[in-house]
Amino acid sequence: MATTSSSSPLQLRVNGRDCVTPATPDTPLLYVLRNDLELNSPKYGCGLGECGACTVLIDGVAARSCVIPVRAAQGREVTTLEGLGTRARPGPTQQAFIDCQAAQCGYCLNGMIMTVEALLRRNPDPTEAQLRNELHHNLCRCGTHVEIMQAALRAARLRRAAAIAAEGKQ
Ligand code: FES
Repeated sequence: MATTSSSSPLQLRVNGRDCVTPATPDTPLLYVLRNDLELNSPKYGCGLGECGACTVLIDGVAARSCVIPVRAAQGREVTTLEGLGTRARPGPTQQAFIDCQAAQCGYCLNGMIMTVEALLRRNPDPTEAQLRNELHHNLCRCGTHVEIMQAALRAARLRRAAAIAAEGKQ
């Protein structure tokens, strides 16, 4: 639960929208996203920055929102899984994970998808080894690593295809 501040509300920009939160500056960003903004894709796993379930993007870089105080996100662009697409129109990385049926319990998938998304934004054509290395610190207790790797590779292909299609329209 976010801790409420008696001072003026903190302002955030999340998924392209300006938001305010009454939370105190030291409240973990994860609590604000889930409890105040009702963005429930980032999950609470370990609360220690070790499992990756809570991953979001901050200025496009993967970050563990359970250990980041909300004050550190002020003035920056926060993106959650909800910001990558919609149920009707998932983004390419989301679509790849759907196509590959990469979930068993699904608890880790927020972190897997956001971590892959962050890598593909800075490197659209990673090797399998680079993808593996990036996902190395995201934990999946069900053991769906094979499907997750297939989805990560497919995400790279889908994003490249989408970029080529977008260029063709210009
Ligand atoms: Fe944030 Fe585990 S809940 S890294």
